[in-house]
Amino acid sequence: MKMWSGRFKAALNEQADTFNSSLPIDKRMYKHDIAGSIAHVTMLGEQNIIPREDADSIRESLAEILRDIESGKTEIAGAEDIHMFVEEELTKRLGQVGKKLHTGRSRNDQVALDIRLYMRDAIADIIALLGKLIQTLCSIAEQHTDTYMPAYTHMQKAQPTTLAHHFCAYCEMFLRDADRLSDCRKRVNVMPLGSGACTTTSYPINRERVAQLLDFPRVTQNSLDGVSDRDFAAEFLSACSILMMHLSRFNEEIIYWASDEFGFVTPDDAFSTGSSIMPQKKNPDMNELIRGKTGRVFGDLVTLLTVMKGLPLAYNKDMQEDKEPVFDCEDTVKSCLTVFTALLPTLTFHKDVLFAGASGGYTAATDCADYLVKKGIPFRDAHKIVGQLVAYCCDGGKRLDMLTTDEYRLFSPQFGDDILQVVSAPSMVAARVVVGGPSPATVKKEIAALQKAAATLL
Ligand code: ARG
Repeated sequence: MKMWSGRFKAALNEQADTFNSSLPIDKRMYKHDIAGSIAHVTMLGEQNIIPREDADSIRESLAEILRDIESGKTEIAGAEDIHMFVEEELTKRLGQVGKKLHTGRSRNDQVALDIRLYMRDAIADIIALLGKLIQTLCSIAEQHTDTYMPAYTHMQKAQPTTLAHHFCAYCEMFLRDADRLSDCRKRVNVMPLGSGACTTTSYPINRERVAQLLDFPRVTQNSLDGVSDRDFAAEFLSACSILMMHLSRFNEEIIYWASDEFGFVTPDDAFSTGSSIMPQKKNPDMNELIRGKTGRVFGDLVTLLTVMKGLPLAYNKDMQEDKEPVFDCEDTVKSCLTVFTALLPTLTFHKDVLFAGASGGYTAATDCADYLVKKGIPFRDAHKIVGQLVAYCCDGGKRLDMLTTDEYRLFSPQFGDDILQVVSAPSMVAARVVVGGPSPATVKKEIAALQKAAATLL
């Protein structure tokens, strides 16, 4: 018998019952549902809406149900959703008194509360994982402030940089991801209970007290809004989508850096897999899976936005579909961050290959032009002279750092003996001391700032 079955003459069709049930999905909110009910019943007792003794026994019984679920003594099954399960279990244990818990409350505001409580924890976990990832990247970067490599634009070699500078770029992105999540948490952290089914209740409830008991700084200000919006969940999925976009780009780079053509990095056996037919294969499956799972998280965001886009106020059952994308996103983001943080320290970078890459492909051209500018030649003219120098190298199969000073002078008498020193990758990098640049001294400062910021996320 359903708890709401008073006005019904026939039982719910079996297929409809299964179709209607959200328990397999929302049972993971059991802790939050019980915490919400404990706060609600405490307030009901304090306000004398139900007798204090009843509130006390309900509170004790709810705490016992929680213990029994955690110890495995009580199995979550056989109810329509987690809210009904807890209430049915309470009534089984307490009889008549248990039936008083739902006074002045609806499942509509209850589920809005549960998902907010759940997401507060999920967001804190993800922010901490981002903190660990940034710390890991920083400790690798510290060892590579003078590991020279090419920076690319259009996937063409552009200018020399260092592996540390490259890693720190991702740290900046992950730090903003954590910032976006903690900003989203502010809007998650608002207490909706008391909104009732849609227009609050006529009982003299104390919403601020419930908020205080559950550590919420504010309560929702409109009951129709309180039960019917999930913008905070869409925001979470959107912040996670951006985070996954960053993770995916980084993993894409590691995948091709590990190719025979690049040879920048060798993945560790512990994080690679083989082929069932090609004995030579060692594939970067973890990186590919992270890239692939990005699609799943983008899909979660589109799922929720699509569920919500046509819904009139206030609660509609469609909204039961909000939890699966949120949980799937949480699981995916957590597993991707965890495996990626474990994999990073096992990568072996090949400094010699990276250095050769930093020097090849005329990466010194900008610095050659800047050299002439410092000798008084206007930048546009210097650009043209160096363009001709590059064409000369292309024709002769040479690199800028392989030419003699005399060859440089064929293009401009302003080239002095120091040009060969200027066009080496280490001096080009060392010259970039501007904030944000790759010089080892600059990047060391960036790493220190990132480490400080990461520590606040844990
Ligand atoms: N299981 C429902 C959900 O997740 C709880 C709210 C149900 N409310 C209702 N009036 N049917 O959205």
